[in-house]
Amino acid sequence: MTFGIIMKKIRIGLIGCGTVGTGVVACIKNNAALIAARCDVQLSIVAIAVSDIEKKRDFDATSVVFTDNADTVVNSPDIDVIVELIGGTTDAKRYVLQALKNGKPVVTANKSLLAYHGDELFRVAAENGVDIYYEASVAGGVPIIKSLREGLSANHVERIYGILNGTCNYILTRMENDGVDFGDVLREAQDLGFAEADPSLDIDGHDTAHKTCILASLAYGEWIDVDQIFVEGIRGIDLQDIRNAARAGYKIKLLGIVKFDSSNIQMRVHPTLVSADSLLAKVSDEFNAVWVEGDIVGPTMLYGRGAGQDATASAVVADLVDVALNICFNSSRRVPPFRPHNSYNDVLSMDEIECRYYIRLSVDDVPNVMARIAQILGESGISIASVTQQELASDHLPIILITHTAKEVELNRALSKIEVLDVVREAPVVLRIEDIENDRDR
Ligand code: NDP
Ligand code: HSE
Repeated sequence: MTFGIIMKKIRIGLIGCGTVGTGVVACIKNNAALIAARCDVQLSIVAIAVSDIEKKRDFDATSVVFTDNADTVVNSPDIDVIVELIGGTTDAKRYVLQALKNGKPVVTANKSLLAYHGDELFRVAAENGVDIYYEASVAGGVPIIKSLREGLSANHVERIYGILNGTCNYILTRMENDGVDFGDVLREAQDLGFAEADPSLDIDGHDTAHKTCILASLAYGEWIDVDQIFVEGIRGIDLQDIRNAARAGYKIKLLGIVKFDSSNIQMRVHPTLVSADSLLAKVSDEFNAVWVEGDIVGPTMLYGRGAGQDATASAVVADLVDVALNICFNSSRRVPPFRPHNSYNDVLSMDEIECRYYIRLSVDDVPNVMARIAQILGESGISIASVTQQELASDHLPIILITHTAKEVELNRALSKIEVLDVVREAPVVLRIEDIENDRDR
């Protein structure tokens, strides 16, 4: 049955055809007919720009314009929409801005571009009355951007907790399950196409910060300066901390955390101990999950593959369907890509946050050590919830402390005194604990 709507062909120019771009080509090849049947739009890739046109590709490029000059794609009058999949913030920014100025809608998966230049890109898109879609920029195939912009738009967002980096979650899962060395697993994640071109963006937490910036900006209506987000990655996570956490009933996850706190917001990215029984603890491998709490809806959670060719392509092509429908119904910007509506006062500094802490100390096995440490913590008002002292592993004794809720500034004050004690052998390892599902009494 038809409803009298004429099928419209949407001509796509792809800039970048590596891991994600190749997935987009395959997805459109496999599912264009299904999408056409559902939406009466025919998605058609007509041009592809890459760096190296001599490189062997996994698809047949003979039916498209294949070029190493992306400007010709961006400026072509025969292209309706530009998909930017090259990454980085230099060439990508230039192509995206030019496309918007040319009146072409843009789809991008580039979270660093949005984190650093979102303000400018959204302003130029608004000035030119065009859309910029970016579902794939956060959590791969998980439709969190659409959820925040549309599905949860009736809510004031209270808290967001996200496992947002597939590479890190894959590494932490393999370390925990198989005791594999950090470096080996990182190489695996790279081979699987999860990691960024520069994988330090993943493991040092910056990629998660870029995504946290996008989510917080959408939630609180001001394009946030990504440098205001506290960032700590997983490079320092040791197998012994993963095992200690497991013994205490926790798993370690790299989280992007955004909390609304008495009209201010806190934003941080760090490895976090979460209860092993919690939903987020069960998110393994390259999977991502985003826990969003709204004042009306309460807690929600989205889950799915956060990195890799097909999952990311799914989000890019879904954006293309939205763009195509906007073109067909002359309804671009019906849901604006980002609309400023500031709804918070300030960004809290890390000194002001409060949580529970896991602390690993390496100390001499001599009398009175624990008493001295407990006294310093007590003087800073930090109460100890549990202490585990392990048998002598080497010439030093590991002590694992879990605290009750404490202020970060007080913890740092106490640690600065503890680490200079003559019995303390290494810098303390400190990880934050979040009680996500049980934190109902805020
Ligand atoms: P790749 O490195 O696999 O692919 C990059 C592509 O861009 C290649 O085709 C490359 O050409 C091309 N390219 C690079 N510079 C230029 C340029 N100046 N002009 C034209 N083409 C250029 O990256 P990914 O596909 O992994 O990532 C693309 C984007 O998607 C990034 O922003 C990334 O952060 C994001 N992303 C990636 C995910 C993933 O799981 N991989 C998930 C979500 C988002 P050539 O092929 O000739 O080298
Ligand atoms: N490198 C990113 C990750 C890709 O591992 O999550 C998806 O954004």
